[in-house]
Amino acid sequence: MPQIIDGKLISAQIKEEVKEKVAKLNAQGTRVCLAVIQVGTDPASSVYVGNKKKACAYVGIESLSYELPEQTSQEELLALIAELNGKAEVNGILVQLPLPGHIDEDAVIRAIDPKKDVDGFHPQSVGALCIGQPGFVSCTPAGIIELLKRSGIEIAGKECVVIGRSNIVGKPMAILLLRENGTVTVTHSRTRNLKEVTRRADILVVAVGKPRMITREYVKEGAVVIDVGIHRNENNRLCGDVDYEDVSPVCSAITPVPGGVGPMTIAMLMYNCVRSIELQ
Ligand code: GUN
Repeated sequence: MPQIIDGKLISAQIKEEVKEKVAKLNAQGTRVCLAVIQVGTDPASSVYVGNKKKACAYVGIESLSYELPEQTSQEELLALIAELNGKAEVNGILVQLPLPGHIDEDAVIRAIDPKKDVDGFHPQSVGALCIGQPGFVSCTPAGIIELLKRSGIEIAGKECVVIGRSNIVGKPMAILLLRENGTVTVTHSRTRNLKEVTRRADILVVAVGKPRMITREYVKEGAVVIDVGIHRNENNRLCGDVDYEDVSPVCSAITPVPGGVGPMTIAMLMYNCVRSIELQ
């Protein structure tokens, strides 16, 4: 049977490390504070935002919560961000995505001071990542690197294939794997012979957004499989982009859903909040 990569355990370890760092900072008189903005009442976003605030409380980071109505104008949101940019006591600013259709997400992301961009979505953060300079790294891909490293999985020299090219996961994931000296291929909806490409992977990162799409025909014997997807199946149970039952017998290590990549995102957000003190 494969090694089950335990995101719940590893994320708990990271949160403990962050908690210690926060306690040390507090002892020196430095507080850590994250502002969390949600526009509208999308139920999934409300769950994510609630979990982020809970994690803050656990590690000792203060959180300021801004729950704005769905009709909030872009100008009003930008004005709030400008105000938070100017507040020295606010270290991180997070705007939960997706935003309502009448608001330009890119404009909102660009408005966040890059020194407070704990999501790592600002073009300056992405650019810094691409050229190997210090800056915030998007939490989900950063969490995947931690999962691999803390599970003793070597990246250097490996064939790494990423399925999906989103700005939040696929693209930064590719850059991070490259930074760790992997040989990286990014695939997407227009990739020809996808199975042939994914079967080359020693490390396969799946972020396609389609429930259980990846079956064993996509996976080389002994590969490490990282599943970024999270969906509800027909029985209302959580499942990933990978058909876990089908794939797990052929791979050497795999992340479960739930309890794999999911918990890492919030742990890395907490880590980024502490890093904001260093970057400021
Ligand atoms: N929506 C889905 N994932 C994320 C995330 O990591 N950060 C923010 N701000 N919104 C999201």
